[in-house]
Amino acid sequence: MSGLVAHVAGQDTLGTLRLVRIHAPELVPHLRSGHFVLARLYPTWDPYLRVPLFPASIGHTTWHTYVPPETSFALDIMAHMPTGTPIRLWGPYGTPVPPPLPGGNTVVVAQDAYVPYILGALQEYAREGNVVLLVEEADGVLPQELSWLPPAVEYRHVPGDPDALEGVLESVVTWADRFLFCGPAHWPRYFARWLETRRLTLQPGLAFALVPDGVTCGLGVCDTCVLEVRQGRIRICRKGPVLDLARWFRSSGGRGA
Ligand code: FES
Repeated sequence: MSGLVAHVAGQDTLGTLRLVRIHAPELVPHLRSGHFVLARLYPTWDPYLRVPLFPASIGHTTWHTYVPPETSFALDIMAHMPTGTPIRLWGPYGTPVPPPLPGGNTVVVAQDAYVPYILGALQEYAREGNVVLLVEEADGVLPQELSWLPPAVEYRHVPGDPDALEGVLESVVTWADRFLFCGPAHWPRYFARWLETRRLTLQPGLAFALVPDGVTCGLGVCDTCVLEVRQGRIRICRKGPVLDLARWFRSSGGRGA
């Protein structure tokens, strides 16, 4: 969609994580988890003041954008903007999380500081089926009570070590008909290998990863989002940020880029 003017509607926190509420009724109907929106925070085309915003929860006329702990100074500025401040937005861009399977069983695995990126998907998936969220405690940034989650989402905190997370994941692997992962950039390959040791074939549509790290310009010009995949190298902002693990990380075969 073309550019529009939105307004800062307030700031909120989830644990110690910061989110900015944005009033943008024209944009919200087109926005889904995994999309990003480019924001020009001041009337200039300085690239450092044009920043990708990832939606967290998505409402009817407003949405929350996430301000991750390791963030740009431009996003930090936005986290302190007064209510009513206008911001210019373009988008949404990128490949979003696929629609849920009606009545499906979905396991979502997220590292704690990445949970806001998939709140929108959790909202959407909980409306259509069953969802279990596994939160890996890496940075200790979330409260035990994740009050932003839809009540229908079951969740578990897992200590931040791979054996603990794999152990809990093992207990739900045969229950799930879809997996969503959201964490550091090495997670897609890691969990693709892990799933392949439990399933004969990593089928398309079974497992997806949202990879927000490194998306800086959102336009395919800065190369900060490059990721190694089975076929070679891709830019996350162009091919993602949601990747089907079967397409990009299956050990052999499958569709190329
Ligand atoms: S974010 Fe700049 S090339 Fe992908």
